Amino acid sequence: MTLSQYIQCPQTHSPLVAVDGYAVCKENPSIKYEMTEGVIDFASSSYESMEIERELEAMISTARSVGCVEAIKTHGGDKAYLFDEIRRRYIELPELRPTDIVLEIGSSLGQHTRHIAKSCAHVEGLDVVKGQAIFANLFCQQDGHQNVNVSAGGVDGVLPFKDASFDVVFFNYVLEWCAGRSEIHPRQFHLKLLKECQRVLKPGGKLVLTTKNRHNLRLFAGAYDEHLEFRFGSALPRWAANQILKIRATKKPPGYLHSQSEMERLLHDAGLVKLRSFLALPDARYPQFMETFDRNGIAKMKANYSDIEKRKMIAAFLTLPFFLQKKVAPSHVYLCERD
Ligand SMILES: C[S@@+](CC[C@H](N)C(=O)[O-])C[C@H]1O[C@@H](n2cnc3c(N)ncnc32)[C@H](O)[C@@H]1O
Repeated sequence: MTLSQYIQCPQTHSPLVAVDGYAVCKENPSIKYEMTEGVIDFASSSYESMEIERELEAMISTARSVGCVEAIKTHGGDKAYLFDEIRRRYIELPELRPTDIVLEIGSSLGQHTRHIAKSCAHVEGLDVVKGQAIFANLFCQQDGHQNVNVSAGGVDGVLPFKDASFDVVFFNYVLEWCAGRSEIHPRQFHLKLLKECQRVLKPGGKLVLTTKNRHNLRLFAGAYDEHLEFRFGSALPRWAANQILKIRATKKPPGYLHSQSEMERLLHDAGLVKLRSFLALPDARYPQFMETFDRNGIAKMKANYSDIEKRKMIAAFLTLPFFLQKKVAPSHVYLCERD
């Protein structure tokens, strides 16, 4: 079996070869990664509860007999949103070319991978959950895409890919969750991962990053924060939120969000340039309305969508002065480049 040409040993940066069910480092053969059903496990241990792992195994087995769509319907609970076209509008942002080599970090069950695969030459996917990586590969195979390879990894913030390999990296709604499994401080973890994105991008290659805004208007209005698990949550000053977490004896919060200025500093520190931001409403998870985030974009949004102000929160957001809109938008959506 030949391994993907874009993969490398994350420890030595040398090539990997397939030997007896392992991806083995050419430089140091004592480093090897288990392969299950063609998926290399760079994560190298189990991060999900036994219950979730068993459910994923059952779903993969159902997918083999009746197909991935049916398997998701049977095992996935309320997962209809996975098939929602609006949720994959971010794929349009970098204007993929048929020759592009693409990396998708956090490919989940492959619900978007199979659509990305239609518009480019090759997709590498990475998800920290091995069962999801296996499912994502299967989903793409069943759709007839031969140009996809999904691996399991990312838990340590290291991307197991060669330098300057990708024209585009997609990082959609993963950043806010992905530091939770690491011991290092979430900001440091995010910076490490963004630097890795910069490393694996070709010069001029594009990163599409979407994540929630720590200072989004909903949280200021007292909404429940699913990351810190209390109202106002991430919008509180960090010291106050940390006090609440301490009182509640929360071991580690399940997520970490950034304000607009923090997010832009991180991208800058990671060496990503030519930032273009987009406004997505109601948010970037479900971007019914999406335009360039400038005064013209907002005017265009109001002119094109007569019903945009029907929702209370959107109406309130649109009455704010532009500089505040930048601060309290629901999500961060960036298209940026490697120098
Ligand atoms: C909220 S889902 C988003 C999935 C998909 N990108 C989408 O837009 O629908 C986040 C995914 O990121 C994965 N993930 C979390 N931390 C990760 C990491 N450090 N490296 C790679 N994937 C990660 C999770 O397992 C999950 O599948």
